[in-house]
Amino acid sequence: MLVMKRIHILGISGSLRADSTNTIILKTLGSLLPSDITFEIFEGLDEIPHFGPGLLDTETVARLKTAIAQADAIVICTPEYAFGVPGTLKNALDWTVGTGDLNDKPVSAISASPLNSGGNNALASLLLTLTALGTKKNEASALSIPNVKGKIADGRVADAHTLNELRLQCANLLGLIDG
Ligand SMILES: Cc1cc2nc3c(=O)[nH]c(=O)nc-3n(C[C@H](O)[C@H](O)[C@H](O)COP(=O)(O)O)c2cc1C
Repeated sequence: MLVMKRIHILGISGSLRADSTNTIILKTLGSLLPSDITFEIFEGLDEIPHFGPGLLDTETVARLKTAIAQADAIVICTPEYAFGVPGTLKNALDWTVGTGDLNDKPVSAISASPLNSGGNNALASLLLTLTALGTKKNEASALSIPNVKGKIADGRVADAHTLNELRLQCANLLGLIDG
């Protein structure tokens, strides 16, 4: 009997805040995936130590790398701090450079901001890093969400246009896994 492996997607939020809008977006995206696809959000980005070449993986770093290895695709959703990617997120990604954990991994990169800019600077920077890490992505793998606060209600994305954009991210990501 042929047993089909379930597609599994890992979400990484660039925000550590308990009521983070970026984490809400990730959770909403997870709920939009087909029901036979599993989705988890990585917990513990704040426990990852500062990266330095030659340093050994800690338990949390190893857990991150295992979560990446077990995922068929990754969705990163991040705020922008001072026109850049939050240090915690960039630091976590730096741990994967030497070991190539994200090489060829399908990704979706999303930024969200309460401002009109949608966190575009962070998104551009994140995309550069994801290119350096050899991830699998295309022109449709990026989404910036401006004025995010007005698009969320009751702990979920409520804006129809944004929900549609998230559905498109899901479809594109699943296409990258197949392709
Ligand atoms: C120190 C600091 C710097 C920020 N810098 C920016 C920025 O450069 N661009 C931007 O769009 N938002 C900026 N913001 C606002 C964040 O986008 C906002 O706090 C966002 O909601 C954080 O995402 P979260 O809800 O997922 O935690 C900044 C916020 C803080 C606290």
